[in-house]
Amino acid sequence: MYHIDVIPGDGIGPEVVDAALDVLKAVSENYGGQFDLEYSDIGAERYLRTGKLLTDEDLDTMRESDAMFFGAVGDPRVEPGVLERGILLRMRTDLDQYINLRPVQSWHPYVPLKNEVDFDIRFIRENTEDFYMGAGGFFGGSKGPDSKVSIRRELYNLELDLHATGDLDGEFAYEIGMLSAKGTERFADYVFRYAKDRGEEKITLVDKANVCTDIYGMQRRIFAEKAEEYGMGLDFMLADAMAMAMVVRPETFGTVAVPNLFGDVLTDLGAQIQGGLGLGASGNINPKGVSMFEPIHGSAPDIAGRGIANPTATVLALAMMLENLSMRKEADAVRTAVKRCLAEGSATPDMGGKLSTKGMAARMAELVIQ
Ligand code: IPM
Ligand code: MG
Repeated sequence: MYHIDVIPGDGIGPEVVDAALDVLKAVSENYGGQFDLEYSDIGAERYLRTGKLLTDEDLDTMRESDAMFFGAVGDPRVEPGVLERGILLRMRTDLDQYINLRPVQSWHPYVPLKNEVDFDIRFIRENTEDFYMGAGGFFGGSKGPDSKVSIRRELYNLELDLHATGDLDGEFAYEIGMLSAKGTERFADYVFRYAKDRGEEKITLVDKANVCTDIYGMQRRIFAEKAEEYGMGLDFMLADAMAMAMVVRPETFGTVAVPNLFGDVLTDLGAQIQGGLGLGASGNINPKGVSMFEPIHGSAPDIAGRGIANPTATVLALAMMLENLSMRKEADAVRTAVKRCLAEGSATPDMGGKLSTKGMAARMAELVIQ
C-alpha cells in the first residue's frame, strides 16, 4: 500500500490531477498496486480564504507520505511570487527535494523542430540553491537606506568593482545567487550516478562560468572532481549556447546538469521542443526522503474549468512517481500508453485533437489495461 499526498492546487491543477488519477486506477487494476490517496487543500483558494500558504501540518502530511502528486499553484488574484515562494519553493527546500528531474523526449509528430531526430535529454536541475535562495533586497532609493544598509557597507568594504554604474549612489536591488560546496557535491553525486545507471559515459554541465566566474567556477571544479571519482566524462556548455544547441542538435545530449535558474528557463524550452508545455513532466526529488511529482506547466487560469487542459504532462509525472516508488514496469506501461495515445491522435485541442481532459486520460487508461 502506497500512501500518496495529492495536492491538486489551482486553475487546471485539479482537472489534470483528477484525470491522471484515472490512469493510476487503471495501473492499480492491471498490476495490483494499492494506493491510498490523501488530498491536501493547498493553494490560492485556501490562501485567500485563510491566509495560509504551507502549514506545519501540511509538511507533516507530506513527510509521512510515500510520494506527493501535485497539480499547479498560481492565481491572478494573488501577487506574483507569494504562492510560488510560499508553497512551491518552500516545499522544495523544507523537504530537501534538491533534485529536479525533467526529461525532454521527442514526442513525434508533435516535435516542432525542422530535423526529425529522436532525442532524450535528461535535465537534472539543482532545485534549492543558486538564484532561488531568496537572498535579496534593496538599498538606497527614495525610501532611503533600509535595514539592508549593512549590505551597502559590506559592498564598500569589499571594494567591489561594480560594473553596472561605477558607484553606489541611487537605488539598488539585488538577488544573490549562491551555491554551497556541499549542495553542489550532492547534486553532482546524483547526476553522475543517474548517468552511470543509464549506461552513459559522460554528462554535460550547463553554466555561465564565463561571466559568473565565482559560483559556476566552483561548480565546475566540484563536478570535475566528481567526474574523476566516478570515472565519467564531463562536457561544459554555457547556458546561452545550450539554448541554441537544444534547437539544432538535441540528439547529442544525454544527462545534463543545470543550476536552478538556467534550469528553469531551459526546461521550458525543452518542454516546447519535445512537443509542447502540455508534455513536460517533473520530479522534485529528495533521494533519501519523499519526492513530489508535477507537470511543468502552471495553473493556466485562462482555460481552467473548461475541461480542455492537456493531462499528458501530469500522466507522465505519474509515470515518474511510479518509477520513484520502484514500480518500473508500471511506469513503462503508463509511458507506452501515452505514446500510443499520442500516436493515434487521441488528444486535447492544444494538440489538434477533440478530446476533453478526462477523455484523453480515459483513453490512456484503456491503453494501460490492454
Ligand atoms: C518551475 C516553475 C517554478 C520555478 C515557479 C512556479 C516558482 O517555473 O517549476 O519551473 O521557477 O521553479
Ligand atoms: Mg519554470
